[in-house]
Amino acid sequence: MRHLLSLLRSGKGLRYAPVVYADSAEFALRVVLRGLPSGPIDVSGDHCPVSMRPFVLGVRLAAKNVDQGALAPCPWLEIYPPNSETTPLARLALKSVGMLPMNQGALYLFEVARTMNRCLPRPTLWLRYLLAWQNARTAARRGDALRMSARDLRALNAYYIVARPVFLVGVGHDKREDLFPMDLVGALSSGEYLLALRATSPGVALIEASKRIAMSSAPAELLEAVYALGNRHRQPTLDLNKLTVPISSSPLFGLPVLDQAGLVRELSVERVERIGSHVLFMARIEHEAGLSGRQLAHMSGTYIEWLRRSQRGCEVLAPL
Ligand SMILES: Cc1cc2nc3c(=O)[nH]c(=O)nc-3n(C[C@H](O)[C@H](O)[C@H](O)COP(=O)(O)O)c2cc1C
Repeated sequence: MRHLLSLLRSGKGLRYAPVVYADSAEFALRVVLRGLPSGPIDVSGDHCPVSMRPFVLGVRLAAKNVDQGALAPCPWLEIYPPNSETTPLARLALKSVGMLPMNQGALYLFEVARTMNRCLPRPTLWLRYLLAWQNARTAARRGDALRMSARDLRALNAYYIVARPVFLVGVGHDKREDLFPMDLVGALSSGEYLLALRATSPGVALIEASKRIAMSSAPAELLEAVYALGNRHRQPTLDLNKLTVPISSSPLFGLPVLDQAGLVRELSVERVERIGSHVLFMARIEHEAGLSGRQLAHMSGTYIEWLRRSQRGCEVLAPL
C-alpha cells in the first residue's frame, strides 16, 4: 500500500535499469530511419541522444543518403527486436530541428513528436504513462533540474530499448580534474564519437579548455561507486585521492581513468555545440586499448519486461 502511494505521489512510471552489457541478441537491436526519399536506412550504428530538455536525438547520415533531396519533414525511427524484421518494438515520429555537418556526412537533429512503444500490453503501458505524466507534473516541486516533459519521458523510455553502455569520463585542465559517469555517448559507424553532457556540469568547462577526454568502460561490479560519482557531478573539482575506485592516468593525455583491465579510450574534441539542456562534444579517437568486459549499461524497464515475458533475459543489477 505504501509502495502504491509513493508511486502515485512521485509517479515514476517509466524507469531504466542498470544491466550488464553483453554481446548477445538481446542487445543487438536494429534501428531504422524511415520516411526519407532514398528509402529506409539502417542507423543502428549512427544515433545518439544529444539533449534531455527538450529530448533531442542525433542521427548521422552519409551524404549519399540525403543528397537526393531535402530530408523529409517527418521521418520516423523504428527499433526492431532481435531476429525480427517485421514488427518494431517502438516507433518514434520525429520532427527535424537542425543539422550539424560532420567529417563524414551530417548529424541530423530530431525532437520526438510521438512515441509508440509495444513492449507492454496497452493497459499496463497507459498506467505507466499516467505515472510518468504525474512524474513530469511534479518535477519542479521535487527539485528535478531537468524537468523533462511527459512526452519526452515516453520517447526516452522507448529510445533506451537500445541499451546505453556507461563509461567513466576523465577530464582535466590546469590542475583541475574530474571523473564522472556518462551514458549519453554514441560511437558512430564513421569512427566519430559523440558525448552529451549537462550544460551545468563543471566538466564542460574542462573539456572546452583542454579539448581532451579519456573514457573507461564502467564495470558492472562497481555499480555503487559509479553512481556515487554521478551524484557529485556539480562539485567543481575532484580529489582523486578520496575516490573509492582505483585510478591511474591515461597513457596519451594523462587524464584520470580506471586502474584495472578494461577499455580505455582517449578522444580529441573537434567541435562543441550547445543543444537544449546539454553540450554536445564531437570527437575522434586518438588511442584505444583493452576490452570492456562486464560493462554497466542502462536499459529501458519496459524492454526488460518484454524480454522477461518472451522468456529471454539479461542480467539486471537493481530491481525495476
Ligand atoms: C551512470 C550514470 C550515467 C550518466 N550519464 C550522463 C551523461 O551521459 N550526461 C549527463 O549530462 N549526465 C549524466 N549522468 C547524470 C549526471 O552524472 C548527474 O547525476 C545528473 O546530471 C544530476 O546532476 P544535477 O545534480 O546537476 O541535477 C549520469 C549519471 C549516472 C549515474
